[in-house]
Amino acid sequence: MWAVTAVLSLYIIGVLTNQNTQLWVVEVPKENAVINSLQDAGHVDVWGGNSTHTQVVVEPEVRELVEEMLRLWEMTHTVEVEDVMALVKQERRHMQELKDNTSRRRRAVQPQAMDWNTYHNMNDIEGYIGWVNHTGGGFVEVLDAAASVEGRRVLVVKVTDPNSPQPKKKIWIEGGIHAREWISPAVATYILHLLVTNESWRELLKVTEWYIVPVANPDGYQYTFTSERARLWRKNRRDNLSSDGRCKGVDLNRNWNLKWGVGASSNPCSETYKGPMPFSEPETRGLQAMMKSIGDIDLFITLHSFGQTILYPWGWTRNAPANAKQLKRLAKKFADAVRDASRGETEYEIGGSGPLYGLASGATDDWAYGELGVPFSYTIELPDQGRYGFLLPETRISSTVTETAAGIQCMIGALTNTGLCAQRRVRQPDTFWFRG
Ligand SMILES: *[C@@H]1O[C@H](CO)[C@@H](O)[C@H](O)[C@H]1NC(C)=O
Ligand SMILES: *[C@@H]1O[C@H](CO)[C@@H](O)[C@H](O)[C@H]1NC(C)=O
Ligand SMILES: *[C@@H]1O[C@H](CO)[C@@H](O)[C@H](O)[C@H]1NC(C)=O
Ligand SMILES: *[C@@H]1O[C@H](CO)[C@@H](O)[C@H](O)[C@H]1NC(C)=O
Ligand SMILES: *[C@@H]1O[C@H](CO)[C@@H](O)[C@H](O)[C@H]1NC(C)=O
Repeated sequence: MWAVTAVLSLYIIGVLTNQNTQLWVVEVPKENAVINSLQDAGHVDVWGGNSTHTQVVVEPEVRELVEEMLRLWEMTHTVEVEDVMALVKQERRHMQELKDNTSRRRRAVQPQAMDWNTYHNMNDIEGYIGWVNHTGGGFVEVLDAAASVEGRRVLVVKVTDPNSPQPKKKIWIEGGIHAREWISPAVATYILHLLVTNESWRELLKVTEWYIVPVANPDGYQYTFTSERARLWRKNRRDNLSSDGRCKGVDLNRNWNLKWGVGASSNPCSETYKGPMPFSEPETRGLQAMMKSIGDIDLFITLHSFGQTILYPWGWTRNAPANAKQLKRLAKKFADAVRDASRGETEYEIGGSGPLYGLASGATDDWAYGELGVPFSYTIELPDQGRYGFLLPETRISSTVTETAAGIQCMIGALTNTGLCAQRRVRQPDTFWFRG
């Protein structure tokens, strides 16, 4: 009898301790065949990593299976976050409390009442874009790049000073292509806000033309606000009927047509599912068409989280790109300015995305660089370095957006020889060529 009880209680303890979604740190480099195959099968969700460690999220249902695999390959791991969903719950409680406080103060809910103390859903962001459009005069134009899978508009806000003569440097900033990376639309909308409200940024508009995509993946982003379970969604919301509707979504940052398929998954259940063909998704198709029609973009930045790295091409190969030196120098402007603005708190690492993060293709930055010929193309992995990961607390939004803006402003100053950092100008190559 005692044996049965013992087995039963072991079983119960097993069930209880197995209930949490956990974040593990596995002691292998991020680019590892076992981790790749686990990710490809949809068993783990790789959150990040470096040359020695990999962070993976493990759901309770597959925990034993993953543990067994790691044991088999003699890979050790530690549990970094015992209960990921507890962090999600905490975040939702905080957002609700802020909302309650705001309505208690009876502040009229106006679209321009955008702030960077909480995370905002699609509705708030669209309202804010409407306000920017309404008050921006001739400086602002809202462009429609695409209708998403679920019919939302993928909006691009163009900002420039219409009264100053051409030619200008063209800058494209893409936010929110990965749904759960909430700090990304926050930074994109903050840059937009500075462009339309801040004198020193407005000055830059005489020599620059900006294209800001606050949320490249509006369906996925909106979905992450709908429930605790949905908070960590990454892809768009494409249905796949042949996988019994079990596995939705295409990773929009694996769907671009440059070396499509390298380091991406063909399994619709995987977080890095590349889609059935390049540009299969309306979001990427619409964005690439608009980028092509604008043509000579000088600087492309896609905002992601997390990791505190500024990455330049290539993602699909470890080979250095043709103008690696210049890419590094302009990236250093960003990293130095962020360090100054954060009083040394925020350190960025600079590198090629392939060498630093492992090979992956079909991303926007590689396409912009290799296909469109944008000489300065970057992925910025915003804070933090993994303590909270995608669940960066709302108390960190305001410092993150201001220090990131300082970094970007310094890059622009260097590129255009105006404003901040102008004295440390980075010369653009006279001719730019693409080396595959
Ligand atoms: C890699 O990540 C681990 C844990 O996340 C950290 O302890 C280690 O210092 C990192 N290594 C490098 C080279 O950044
Ligand atoms: C809401 O208001 C209460 C009382 O003023 C305050 O203690 C609390 O910190 C506020 N919560 C947030 C999230 O700002
Ligand atoms: C922007 O404003 C113009 C009129 O000034 C209006 O026609 C257009 O529909 C607005 N676009 C958005 C997305 O609000
Ligand atoms: C405007 O931008 C400058 C430079 O980034 C910054 O120092 C200043 O605080 C900003 N002003 C306002 C009112 O936000
Ligand atoms: C759906 O998944 C299957 C594999 O299970 C794949 O062959 C097919 O291309 C996918 N369709 C879409 C629209 O992603």
